[in-house]
Amino acid sequence: MKQIVILGSTGSIGTNTLDIIAQFPDQFRVVGLTAGTKDEVLEAQLRRFKPAAVALADENAAARLQSRCRDTAVRICSGVEGLAQVAQWPEADLVISAIVGGAGLVPTLAAIRAGKQVALANKEPMVMAGQLMQEEARKHGVKIFPVDSEHSAIFQSMEGHRREDIRRLILTASGGPLWNLSREQMQHVKPEQALRHPNWKMGAKITIDSATLMNKGLEVVEARWLFDVPASQIEVLVHRESIVHSLVEYRDGSVIAQLGTPDMRTPISYAMQYPERLPLDQPPLDLARIGTLTFQEPDHERFPCLGLGYEALRIGGTMPATLNAANEVAVAAYLQEGIGFLEIAEVIEGTMAAHKPRSIATLDDALEADRWAREKADSLVHARAR
Ligand SMILES: NC(=O)c1ccc[n+]([C@@H]2O[C@H](COP(=O)([O-])OP(=O)(O)OC[C@H]3O[C@@H](n4cnc5c(N)ncnc54)[C@H](OP(=O)(O)O)[C@@H]3O)[C@@H](O)[C@H]2O)c1
Repeated sequence: MKQIVILGSTGSIGTNTLDIIAQFPDQFRVVGLTAGTKDEVLEAQLRRFKPAAVALADENAAARLQSRCRDTAVRICSGVEGLAQVAQWPEADLVISAIVGGAGLVPTLAAIRAGKQVALANKEPMVMAGQLMQEEARKHGVKIFPVDSEHSAIFQSMEGHRREDIRRLILTASGGPLWNLSREQMQHVKPEQALRHPNWKMGAKITIDSATLMNKGLEVVEARWLFDVPASQIEVLVHRESIVHSLVEYRDGSVIAQLGTPDMRTPISYAMQYPERLPLDQPPLDLARIGTLTFQEPDHERFPCLGLGYEALRIGGTMPATLNAANEVAVAAYLQEGIGFLEIAEVIEGTMAAHKPRSIATLDDALEADRWAREKADSLVHARAR
């Protein structure tokens, strides 16, 4: 029986993970759950799955939960320290890292430092401090299993092959809900339109990242650190159908890919029970019905965020953390209709241009870059505010 902690249990990845656990009660047991502010959703989850400990980032939400759960034995923690405490829970074997954004860095690193295996959906910490996270993972004998569907596909396509034989990693991108729009049309796109993803049902932040293609920029950085492959060997291909989840090309010309219907429970369950494949109730992939799979080059002019991801990786040090923080601030401002869709890239670009990159040797270096970039991006947002 594997003992599981889910960081971000109330989100899209978190609830999909609980679905899998509910389907396989003999294989998994929940020992810890965390959320940001949604105390009522977390309460329903803790009453159903009976973890030993839960945490809410928001202190007031934690206090509300505490007062309602006196009839349970659950330990309720709060704040960043509370998240880290649950992430290191002594009985936990595997931590599903599924918080959205840089807020996941401290608890995910705490899990790694406590020697827990990690299933990583929360890509932003890997963007902020990928080298540090991998060094810590090596030091503590921790395996980081990718949950992102593209990285899971690459992980699966690398199985049984020699790393030195790899020529290219090819990440596929759906192109998101705005792929066919001109820049002129994008200028007027409201959040409700950008939130309508054609293939995946995900949280709001990653859905906007898909619309700008920043999601792919973040994934290029994530792939660099997860697979220890330089940026020059990582490419992106737009594949509107989201059936081929990514590909690996080898030096003899062979290309190995992983395919499947777009359902996050497949990569989540693979990361949870690797190398076993769980019998999920998935409809079979009907390629005859789909008929055609299409591929095209990304359009860097209409979608500058992808190039910004490559640029941050090329500069290195604190620049990817700066990119990530500026993106979080810009996306939040866009969702509140404080800036327009095209201004997301402008805020990120402006923040990166003002940043003097330094190396990241410690967690504090990454957190300091994150803090600086949020402040800078905030000022750029306010200068544009409608
Ligand atoms: N969704 C997908 O299909 C998918 C696919 C690939 C990768 N990912 C990655 O997985 C991560 C999660 O994505 P998602 O779509 O599941 O996001 P989501 O639905 O927005 O859920 C985010 C989770 O993080 C919690 N959270 C938010 N802010 C927090 C904070 N400051 N401190 C602690 N917890 C916080 C939320 O709690 P509350 O509910 O209380 O706010 C929620 O549990 C992201 O990094 C995303 O890029 C997602």
